Amino acid sequence: MTAALSVQGLQVAIVTGATSTNVLRGVNIALQPGEVRGLVGESGAGKSMLGRAVLGLLPANATITAGTILFEGRDLVAMPEPERRRLLGRRIALIPQDPMTSLNPVKCVGAQIAIVLRHHLALSRREALQRAAELLAEVAIREPRRVLDLYPHEISGGMRQRVLIAMAFACDPSLVIADEPTTALDVTVQRQVLQLVERLRQRHGATILFVTHDLGVVAKLCRTMTVLHAGRVLEEGETANVLAKPRHPYTRALLAATPRADRPAEALRPVPAALIDGLWAEAYRLDRLSAMATS
Ligand SMILES: Nc1ncnc2c1ncn2[C@@H]1O[C@H](COP(=O)(O)OP(=O)(O)O)[C@@H](O)[C@H]1O
Ligand SMILES: [Mg+2]
Repeated sequence: MTAALSVQGLQVAIVTGATSTNVLRGVNIALQPGEVRGLVGESGAGKSMLGRAVLGLLPANATITAGTILFEGRDLVAMPEPERRRLLGRRIALIPQDPMTSLNPVKCVGAQIAIVLRHHLALSRREALQRAAELLAEVAIREPRRVLDLYPHEISGGMRQRVLIAMAFACDPSLVIADEPTTALDVTVQRQVLQLVERLRQRHGATILFVTHDLGVVAKLCRTMTVLHAGRVLEEGETANVLAKPRHPYTRALLAATPRADRPAEALRPVPAALIDGLWAEAYRLDRLSAMATS
């Protein structure tokens, strides 16, 4: 079976002035069709960079310096730009982290969903608005016809996130990258959004890369998980196995640092500084090796 997504040896560097800093250091990750993969790691690990590299949405100062990104067997890195842009939003979609800044504040909700539908599916204005209303109903928004005419600031944060989810699933994508889609929401809304993503996955059969720093979310939603640190994959496997028997010391430390309902707060242990220092030393050693290999 062809992997839905297969990232091999992906290296991404950020260039500021004369210095180049690696943020992804040879990442390998493969998702089978329909798989929901949790991507975890502390802030700065490179989770968003990985997602953005797949989406072709890296910041202007970031470049892919090595590796391939195969989407259903086709290399997104080598693909001509127009072809890649046709995939984005249609076959590969993003659920972004921040529902407020990801929506256009001066366009009403319906118009924003309709743009996506008209662009990719060549629907008429009428058809697009009709479909937009159906999509809003699908993400459990009541009175979808009325909501179409509202502006982002006129709806709640949870509803804005639902609108973004509706947009992500609008063209029936086969791969969805969700970059911390619940981080900005309160706990109750978070839970609703997670249920919604799971329902949509079942209905659309999409493969999902779910970026989060919340191991609780991974335990609930993701069959498999990958642990990223300093742009390197440290561990991956079936979520149940990784959580029950973490092999990498960093994964064990992350688990010990995670609050759990069945454990008193005093039992929490921060990730030891010496462990982090050791991981960074290894990351810099890899940087020197790859610099030697390319010079
Ligand atoms: N636009 C940017 N310009 C320069 N450096 C960035 C930019 N975005 C992220 N970085 C750096 O890239 C690294 C990985 O960041 P990111 O992928 O956002 O981490 P995560 O999503 O895991 O928190 C970090 O060291 C961060 O400081
Ligand atoms: Mg991020």
